Parts: sequence; C-alpha cells; structure tokens
Amino acid sequence: MNSKDMQLIAMHNIMIELYHHILVQTTEGEAALQYMLDRGFTLEDIKKEKIGLSPNMNDFAIKALSEKGYSNEAMFQAGILSRNEETFSYFDRFRNRIMIPIKNHKGNFVGFTSRSLDGSTPKYLNTPETDLFQKRRLFYNLFDAFKMIRSKNEVFLMEGHMDVLKVKTTKVKNIVGLMGTSLSNEHVEILKRSCDNVTLMFDGDTAGQTATKSIGENLIKSGLNVYVIPLSEGQDPDELIVEKGVEAFEKYVYENKISFVLYLAEKSIKEAKGNDLLFTERLTELIDLLKYINDDIEQSRLVKEIAEMFEVDREVIFKRLPNRRNTIR
Ligand code: UTP
Ligand code: MN
Ligand code: MN
Ligand code: MN
Ligand code: MN
Repeated sequence: MNSKDMQLIAMHNIMIELYHHILVQTTEGEAALQYMLDRGFTLEDIKKEKIGLSPNMNDFAIKALSEKGYSNEAMFQAGILSRNEETFSYFDRFRNRIMIPIKNHKGNFVGFTSRSLDGSTPKYLNTPETDLFQKRRLFYNLFDAFKMIRSKNEVFLMEGHMDVLKVKTTKVKNIVGLMGTSLSNEHVEILKRSCDNVTLMFDGDTAGQTATKSIGENLIKSGLNVYVIPLSEGQDPDELIVEKGVEAFEKYVYENKISFVLYLAEKSIKEAKGNDLLFTERLTELIDLLKYINDDIEQSRLVKEIAEMFEVDREVIFKRLPNRRNTIR
C-alpha cells in the first residue's frame, strides 16, 4: 500500500470515530440516534458498525482533519470533501447524514454511504470514486461476511445498505450489498472466486424485480448457481424483519429459496398469459437459461417443472439442451 492510500484510510478512521461520537454521545446526535433505534437497530449494532452522524456544517471534516495536518487537497482526493469548481473552495461532502462506514475486502475503511435525515436528495450519498473506493470492485460487507460465504458456499446479494445492516443482526450473515443496483464484470469475478451459489434478495418493487432478472441472468451465464428469495411487492429485507421479526425472517429465507430459472418461469407465465407469441418467446428464453444449470439433478427437475407449467412435452425441452454425457465438466 502506498502512503497516499494509507493517508486515505487514516483520514477515514479519524472521521468514523468523530461521526460515531456525535451520534451516540452528544445531544446533537439524539434525534438521529432515535431514528436508528426506531428503525430497529440496537445501540450495540450501532457501536459494532461504527455508524455515525455528520453534523450540519460545511467545515466539520475540514477543521478536524486539518488539525491533524491533512491538506484540503488530500481530503478532497479521499472523497471526504467536495469542491466548488468555480471558486475552488472546499466544503464537507456529507452534512446532516447518517454515516455508514464501508470497508474494502481487506477490512480497511475506505468510504461511506450516508442517508439523508431531512428528506434532502439524494436519499443515499456515497463516497465518490477514489483510488480506494471503486464501486465496480466493492461489495458492502464482503470483509465481514467472507468466512461464512466460504463455509456455506453461498452469498446473499442485496440492494440496500440498511438491508445488509439489518440482516446481519440475524443468523443470515453471509450477505453482501451492491452499491446501487449495477453489477460489474469485476463484481461477478469476485463472487465466482468466493463461492458457487448466489441468492438474490432484492426489494419487492419493480426496480428490485427488474434488477433480479438482469443480474440473475448475468450471474447464471457466468457459471454461478443462482437462487431468489422473492419478497412481496413494496417490501425489502429490512421491512420484512421489522414487520415479522427475526425468527420469521430466518424461516422465510430458509423456506423460500427458488431456483432463478423457476422464479423467471413463474413471472413469464403471468406476463404471457393470453399472449401465445410472448409465451413461446419466454419459454425459448428459459430453455436457453436451463443450459447453464450446472447440476444435472436440478436441471432435470427444472425441465419437468417448466414443461408442466408451460404445458409442453418434456422432450421438447430436453432435445434443445446439450447432451450432458458428452460434456466434460
Ligand atoms: P432504496 O430506495 O430501496 O433504499 O434503494 P433502502 O435501502 O430501502 O433505504 P431506506 O430503507 O429508505 O433507508 C436501494 C439502494 O439503492 C441505492 C442505495 O444503495 C440503496 O440502499 N440508492 C438509493 C442510492 O445509491 N441513492 C439513492 O438516492 C437511493
Ligand atoms: Mn467455483
Ligand atoms: Mn427499492
Ligand atoms: Mn429498499
Ligand atoms: Mn428500506
């Protein structure tokens, strides 16, 4: 690691402690702390994750870090400050926000995601791209989850940072968050190196369903086994836990892990009802995805289920799949 990277991490360590102190120890932090408690986080969770509050000031970070000898330019390069490109003046990037620290895969703090408290947009503001904070290579919580991902040979992928934080408090700890909903080729490679099975648990709204479809297709074509925990419309993992409780959530996750291809098949059937052209198109797409199912037992089962759902002869589907006896795997 070069000295610039070490500086970036050191500045983050300082700011994380200060923001955390403000949230849990000061009167200024009371309302924000109450907001987190109301969302179902315990003080212990907040301390463990070093969650903080950035005060509503333009120069809080500037003052704190210049006292420690850092230059404005270094703070800007670290993503802690923003710059007015006309006047070249610097100001704190994060103001009046819940601060959620983000570690890289080595466990070093390299950035933040932050949630607005006063309805200001964007709701979530991340650290900008820096030398060490590259969204296409980062998963939220990968460092903490890695051991369990390895031992279970499975990773749960989620959309929201709050979802990851909340689900971490249950027994389901092999979870990572996307920084937004896009999945890069680098992300896919990281997942492939970590385990064989990816389970998608995105929001139940339209955006979440769209992301499930495109990310699921991407992952299955890259050779991973893909499953989906479908959530009901308008619900996300965090809300499911708040509404139903931790044990009900754990049970739900255990009992509702659907093979990605079946998840798509169920959606397709609904969407193509009464439209024979679309019906055939969708079935053809599904057969194409069945080719990527690694396990022959699972593949055979899925062929049978999909044949029944679409009311076609199994052999029609089997005939289009590569002959497994001739493939070396
Ligand atoms: P959601 O709007 O579903 O947020 O966006 P959420 O996680 O449920 O947030 P709460 O519960 O209202 O606090 C899902 C994810 O999309 C990204 C964030 O990563 C967020 O967690 N996002 C969303 C942004 O990056 N910026 C935004 O302004 C909104
Ligand atoms: Mn492998
Ligand atoms: Mn959403
Ligand atoms: Mn959500
Ligand atoms: Mn939410």
